[in-house]
Amino acid sequence: MFRLSARKAVQQLGAQIRHQSTSSASAATSMNAKTMSMAAGVATVGAAAYFSMESADANMAADGLHAPVYPWDHKKNLATFDHAAIRRGYQVYKEVCAACHSLDRIAWRNLIGVSHTEAEVKAMAEEHEYTDGPNDVGDMFERPGKPSDYMPRPYANEEQARAGNMGAYPPDLSLMIKARHGGADYVFSLLTGYQDPPAGVEIREGLNFNPYFPGGAIGMARVLYDGLLEYEDGTPATTSQMAKDVTIFLSWAAEPEMDERKKMGMKALTMLAVLTGLSVYLKRHKWAGIKTRKILYNPPTPKKH
Ligand code: HEC
Repeated sequence: MFRLSARKAVQQLGAQIRHQSTSSASAATSMNAKTMSMAAGVATVGAAAYFSMESADANMAADGLHAPVYPWDHKKNLATFDHAAIRRGYQVYKEVCAACHSLDRIAWRNLIGVSHTEAEVKAMAEEHEYTDGPNDVGDMFERPGKPSDYMPRPYANEEQARAGNMGAYPPDLSLMIKARHGGADYVFSLLTGYQDPPAGVEIREGLNFNPYFPGGAIGMARVLYDGLLEYEDGTPATTSQMAKDVTIFLSWAAEPEMDERKKMGMKALTMLAVLTGLSVYLKRHKWAGIKTRKILYNPPTPKKH
């Protein structure tokens, strides 16, 4: 139906144009004008969609250098997250990134059984003060954190965050791995990709050159340096080690259900494989009698008179 009417509209449009080009005093009905503007509207939207897909800018710096693909263990089908790396990555987040970036979607309790024990998490939460209330006289009050509280933010609001970072806004990192093209590869490359700008490239005061950041000039300075912190498990804290750990931590933060999801997937596949085997067996069993049946035809013998 729709196709037919669309074709009709186009035909009418053609007729209309021919008509208009031959006769000036157009006797076109308002119906035809309406159809025409509709078809023109469809064409405009279509063209806009087509051109917005085609990138007119072939400048690689505008899109950022494409991050190489790294062999992350947790991306393998049967692998879980490296939980020791999540624990180290949390340490990097807390000691470095948390000064500027929030992690709104992660509560203290989410770390229990993932990277820390319950007692550790309780102690960590208690180090922070949270505003709660109102109490029975209607006042808000401060209390130590509980595992059910969410990670504290470095800034009260976006304006304060921008004011503290020369106008640039440090985005929330909870879903950063999912929010950027290239995911974990991008974040790792970004953190390890700081370098001097190539000859001829001018970087404005307060920005830093990083080829992986779209545009090449990022408001965040290089934050990871060899030996910046001391890991409790003795892993040497090199720049790339810290970048890798914090990227794995953020991958977990963006997808905390990954381990469980893969486990459920394996269970489902195993179940389905067993059920498929069973149903194949059952089908063959049921059909065996029918499929091996031999049909004989005994023509009636003519009776002798
Ligand atoms: C001194 C403050 C500061 C610290 C510390 C900091 N960042 Fe940033 N970060 C920023 C700012 C500001 C931006 C926004 C930059 C821009 O838009 O130009 C940013 C942006 C980002 C982005 C987004 C880039 C994009 O594609 O938009 C990521 C990812 C990021 N930071 C990760 C981290 C990680 C991981 C750490 C810890 C290892 C960290 N940052 C530490 C200030 C900081």
